[in-house]
Amino acid sequence: MKAIVVTDQAAGTAGAKLVKRPEPQAAINDVVVQIHASGFTGDELTWPSTWTDRVGRDRTPSIPGHELAGVVTALGYGTTGLSIGQRVFGLTDWYRDGTLAEYVAVEARSLAPLPGDVDFTVGAALVMSGLTAWQGLFEHGRLHAGQSVLVHGAAGVVGSMASQLAREAGAYVIGTGRAGGRQTALDFGAQEFVDLDNDALEDVGEVDLVFDVIGGDAATSGSGLRA
Ligand SMILES: NC(=O)c1ccc[n+]([C@@H]2O[C@H](COP(=O)([O-])OP(=O)(O)OC[C@H]3O[C@@H](n4cnc5c(N)ncnc54)[C@H](OP(=O)(O)O)[C@@H]3O)[C@@H](O)[C@H]2O)c1
Repeated sequence: MKAIVVTDQAAGTAGAKLVKRPEPQAAINDVVVQIHASGFTGDELTWPSTWTDRVGRDRTPSIPGHELAGVVTALGYGTTGLSIGQRVFGLTDWYRDGTLAEYVAVEARSLAPLPGDVDFTVGAALVMSGLTAWQGLFEHGRLHAGQSVLVHGAAGVVGSMASQLAREAGAYVIGTGRAGGRQTALDFGAQEFVDLDNDALEDVGEVDLVFDVIGGDAATSGSGLRA
């Protein structure tokens, strides 16, 4: 199969090469997925897991990319819950070869069915940001219907996902960011928007949850928020 590999951390993305690699085999509990769309995060080339295995041994050349959407082509021994020909999307293990390839072997538990009316590109694009937003809002933040949430960076990738999920769950969403992000944040479901450069964050008053992907002073200076 064709795949993009990296071998030299210092070279960054300029060191990535398109090469031929053997197709992956499905190990116990794995499936092999033919990849129709994949996502790559630039930061991956700084993650130790891109370069070594779990005991620190060099694992290059490694295939980056961890988000995927595609079709199951093989099942490993003991794999349950998925079938050959099924459309799936999900995230692959940081320590294994990833998704910038025609095929990937991935544990079945890391995948979910992709509905027929959702494009592969949409499926691959929402995995990491969607999971980040979901975990922050619902697993850590325990957000539920009727509550209010302040979403910092609401026009960004994670913030826009958090705004949509929070609205869907019945929460009241106040987005923040720079002036240029106002309309985007409102379009993604924020009911109010605070321009952090010009508006007073303390005017928001009390909210039930603050979801912050900006961090530092920008999101808190002058804030009288109680959450
Ligand atoms: N994307 C993912 O899947 C993912 C997953 C896990 C963790 N993360 C982490 O989450 C953070 C956000 O990632 P992202 O992908 O959502 O980034 P992003 O798309 O750039 O979104 C960040 C948003 O916050 C705004 N912003 C940043 N600094 C600001 C400031 N000082 N004042 C006002 N607004 C500000 C940005 O506005 P401008 O565009 O105008 O700067 C943008 O709208 C990063 O630390 C990233 O590493 C991301």
